Amino acid sequence: MFPGDFSKKPCYSIILNIQTILRKTMKKYIGEYFIRHLVLFSILCIMLSSAVFAKEDGLARTPPMGWNSWNAFQGNISEAKIKTTADLMVSSGMRDAGYVYLVLDDGWMAKERDTNGNLVGDPVKFPSGMKALGDYIHSKGLKFGIYECRGFLTCMKLPGSFNHEEQDMKTFASWGVDFIKLDGCYAERNGRLSSEELDLYSKSINKTGRPMILSISDFGNGSWAWGAKESAHMWRTSYDIYRSIESVYSCANTTAGDDVIHPAFNGLWQFAGPGHWNDADMLQVGNLKNSKEDKIHFSLWCILTSPLMAGNDLSSMSDSVRNILTAPEIIAVNQDPRGFQGYKVYQHGNLEIYNKPLSDGTAAVLLLNKGDRHDDITVTWDKIGLKGKQKVRDLWERKDLGEFIDSFTATNLSKNGHMMIKVGTPGNIQIPGPLPVPVEKYTVTKTGTTWLSDLYYVMKYGDAPQYDANYNGDPISVNGINYNKGLVCRNSSRLMFRLNGKANRFKAIVGTDASCRGNETSRFRVLNEDFFGNQVLFDSGKIKADSSVKIDINVKGVEYLLLMFEGKKTSGVWADAKVINTEN
Ligand code: GLA
Repeated sequence: MFPGDFSKKPCYSIILNIQTILRKTMKKYIGEYFIRHLVLFSILCIMLSSAVFAKEDGLARTPPMGWNSWNAFQGNISEAKIKTTADLMVSSGMRDAGYVYLVLDDGWMAKERDTNGNLVGDPVKFPSGMKALGDYIHSKGLKFGIYECRGFLTCMKLPGSFNHEEQDMKTFASWGVDFIKLDGCYAERNGRLSSEELDLYSKSINKTGRPMILSISDFGNGSWAWGAKESAHMWRTSYDIYRSIESVYSCANTTAGDDVIHPAFNGLWQFAGPGHWNDADMLQVGNLKNSKEDKIHFSLWCILTSPLMAGNDLSSMSDSVRNILTAPEIIAVNQDPRGFQGYKVYQHGNLEIYNKPLSDGTAAVLLLNKGDRHDDITVTWDKIGLKGKQKVRDLWERKDLGEFIDSFTATNLSKNGHMMIKVGTPGNIQIPGPLPVPVEKYTVTKTGTTWLSDLYYVMKYGDAPQYDANYNGDPISVNGINYNKGLVCRNSSRLMFRLNGKANRFKAIVGTDASCRGNETSRFRVLNEDFFGNQVLFDSGKIKADSSVKIDINVKGVEYLLLMFEGKKTSGVWADAKVINTEN
């Protein structure tokens, strides 16, 4: 079931049935006026049921903000360091600026569970124990966050939660944990789909009775695509961020560009909203080369409505870094209650413009020059849904710049230079956002045959595929046969398609396109849902460039199908790739 697709929720059909019965009975006695109101009431109930079934528990109405130990210290953490960080979060003004979660990343636990199988803190690093640390964090008006992993080990090879899910969530609740960062190392060995696993965690958390944010840290996982919002509050969209502006741009591009989704979506904005966020990873503000890089990093995370988890060592934080992390008008963009994720409205070479419509009727706009040359960038009001004369405010300088007709130009921006502005008059009606990609464009909806190349993929890692042609734009040709339909991939790639449980067979011919005739071998695999579930429905093994393999497999009940291709200097073809629904 797709998040928000409330027509499939049990509550929906119950409401419709009640409505029909009431309608028939009441028509007799009360008349059409009442019935019309009843219809309105029913629609309201349906909307409410949607909110109840999605993970809209009010815990993360705006992107969570806090500090996480990993980017500053990796596993080198201790009670003293964490307590000092808690003190500094308060004295630096970070807590009051909104950074309330203090999250201990990997490296906090002892190598072994206790005799009852319970997790325990590393007795050398945390001699007073985790409950005492939680109490200290809470005494500072902060919230306590902790890292675990759904594999049998964490990424640092400490005890993971596999087969201890309920027990560990109970332990965390007893320590007063408020936020769980759940990693995915070794999870592919668990033999369960990610969606099933996260459902288990979500239920285990609910059982404890303690509200805790669930933050998924899987890399290479299309959590947005398979509806993680039903169980988690935020999910990573990228591999790990590191201390460089290139890494910052790459992480930003997973949520705002076409690195991990079909270009038609224009980023992942349509999958985020109050209660469920695309997480571009923890901040490296304070760890980059200079304040210009720190600033653009922060502006990007704010306009992209990503959670803000600071990752610098607060004991050596300069005033400049503190001012960036606590800039009130930039944070306000991130925390805007409308919760609309910003998206790209313009890209030309190294120049980019992002827009985020805000709750007060204005728009936040980021104008960015990633290139080496100084440049001007102009945003025209039509790109952000406005026209005529509009007020402009500089959000870093906290200064009104005046009124501008039809456009605004940021002049002479140097490399990594940017401006973050607010356009319009607060109090006006909200500017509509763009329309999301309609469900039928990326979902199997009809009976009969659907070619996968007629659908947008919802998740991708690796090179973008070619649709219905090879990389030269020529017809697909495998083993001497030409195909009108199919997907052509190169290097290693993963593509996820949303079947929605609507198909029972997947058929394709796989092999190398005639445009590549080398000795390279390739391998094609089909998986149920994501890589972590590791439920392989088909594996071609290594096949030679001059051969092809026919796939005809059962995909009944599969919600998301993952096509994995591995090859090096070759073009792998999923020729004539289609799913068939013979029911109904
Ligand atoms: C993974 C995560 C990181 C961090 C480390 C800890 O790499 O993506 O954010 O939590 O594990 O080992």
